Amino acid sequence: CGIVAYVGHQNASEIIIKGLKRLEYRGYDSAGIALMNDDVLNVYKKQGKVSELENFLKDKNTKSTIGIGHTRWATHGAPSDENAHPHFSESGDLAIIHNGIIENYSSLKQELENKGYTFKSETDSEVFINFIEDIYKNNEGTLEEAVRLALTKVIGAYAIVIMSTNHPDQLIAARKGSPLVIGVGKDEFFLASDATPIVEYTNEVIYVNDYEIAVIKDNKISIRDTKDVKMTPYIQKVDMELEAIEKGGFEHFMLKEIFEQPKSIKDCFRGRLIANEAKLVLGGIRDYSTALINAERIVIVACGTSWHAGLVAEYIFEEFCRIPVEVEYASEFRYRNPVIREGDIVFAISQSGETADTLAAMELAKSKGAIVLGVCNVVGSSISRVSHEGVYTHAGPEIGVASTKAFTAQLTVLTMIALKTALRKGTIAEQRYREILVDLENIPAKVEKALKTDKQVEKIASIYKDARNFLYLGRGYNFPVALEGALKLKEISYIHAEGYPAAEMKHGPIALIDEEMPVVVIATRDSSYDKIVSNIQEVKARKGKVIAVVSEGDSLIPGMVDHTIEVPGTHEVLMPMVSTIPLQLLSYHIAVMRGCNVDQPRNLAKSVTVE
Ligand code: G6P
Repeated sequence: CGIVAYVGHQNASEIIIKGLKRLEYRGYDSAGIALMNDDVLNVYKKQGKVSELENFLKDKNTKSTIGIGHTRWATHGAPSDENAHPHFSESGDLAIIHNGIIENYSSLKQELENKGYTFKSETDSEVFINFIEDIYKNNEGTLEEAVRLALTKVIGAYAIVIMSTNHPDQLIAARKGSPLVIGVGKDEFFLASDATPIVEYTNEVIYVNDYEIAVIKDNKISIRDTKDVKMTPYIQKVDMELEAIEKGGFEHFMLKEIFEQPKSIKDCFRGRLIANEAKLVLGGIRDYSTALINAERIVIVACGTSWHAGLVAEYIFEEFCRIPVEVEYASEFRYRNPVIREGDIVFAISQSGETADTLAAMELAKSKGAIVLGVCNVVGSSISRVSHEGVYTHAGPEIGVASTKAFTAQLTVLTMIALKTALRKGTIAEQRYREILVDLENIPAKVEKALKTDKQVEKIASIYKDARNFLYLGRGYNFPVALEGALKLKEISYIHAEGYPAAEMKHGPIALIDEEMPVVVIATRDSSYDKIVSNIQEVKARKGKVIAVVSEGDSLIPGMVDHTIEVPGTHEVLMPMVSTIPLQLLSYHIAVMRGCNVDQPRNLAKSVTVE
């Protein structure tokens, strides 16, 4: 979900609607806004996209200089007008927007129902605001105190903003576990789940910390924690250009982000990789670099595409650093009493830096004595702050829900960390280290070239756009690329796709192969090349349609398969950054041809702040 709020001297509704559109990638099944018109608190909400809310508001009185807005990704209760935020309290005096999940909401609801409260929606958020109202009504204190007391009793995650008819010029905001940023303008404040709705107005922001409550009134902000201790707001500068969050001539954010990769990879190693001096500078993990060298084990926790980047990293760390690596789905790791020893290194990989499962997995690892290093894209995000140290991917804002440039930037960072560790540990020959650094520096140019396959890939997409299934096969470093290719297709085109290690195909998926089945094989020239050639033959023998991604100049595979896509060769460790490009394009074009909403695929959210 995404939240936006405003208080100041401008028209709040315009700022909030624009902000919600910027945040729509976080959730888009319903949206709503609360405004204060002549001391009356009005809530307008609609199932569907923010644009539907915008139309709905056309004939309403939206004159207000204070307001809160929300775009939802359903957890409790299906998408509907009722379940959309903001939610009113029973008296109608309070309205809330809430991102997160209240775990003990059913017992709180029961308690409130016993007292005679009734509920219009099925959400935990409506329970939350009534719980606050109940405390407010039955205590002498201020609304802020009631919020504080309520927060000591709710279990779960939240970023909330509350408006009240009794205090028509005041916003109360709080967070625990879900992100909340406050932009500080001149006599105005902008609140949001991330900085994207804020940057066009101000670059001064406060990242609200867990257990903090902010009260904004009379052009002033005061922050206290849930123990009622006064905190000093720390104003930071955000470094985000407006064009980074706009489409810039591309039809979709996803396409823009795919084509941005030569630049985003360069941005990722800028100032860190100095190939001609054989140098890697990773200041973000300076304090723990020795611990990394001495680590007996590395555990990587992540979800989705970031988990795939973790799989590639497993191969790199094991090959070069000789450290055993386990790659874990954060959601499984956190609930299975994992064995973590003091001194184990845990990498948490996350584009958003907000994924609830990843965050919880790192907290668990930390509590057991592990050193947790973050690889995040969003600066100042929760994961980056909970980590002991970390390296940002600096890919710029990624808005398309399907991750593309964040993935290649994650691979860049993880490769740099592994190479640097290996050199210091003495597990890589210096010559080899130097060669790979030079190759890494050339990756943006190779990605640029791989992007030139776009038209050809589009043609292939038109042939297979109606397929019902796809199989993706790869070996070695290209195995995670196969998983990622299949995930991209599933996410945005809704075609069922499976990624598999090519050799494992004969233990199951081969049964699916017939002349209807497109099989994408990533078969670039590397140490498993000969083996994957045999796997291609196994598919062809069963009349499968093979789309092969091969290295430039390959003269063998084109004669065996239905379609070949040539990409420039590089060291096999770096190949995933190049071989993934045509697969991103393939899923993109298929989704467009099928009329799917590429940037906002159904049921998905960019930043999953619920477990
Ligand atoms: C969601 C997104 C994916 C992403 C995953 C992990 O499912 O739709 O694109 O890979 O979350 O997110 P993170 O921000 O932690 O990398």
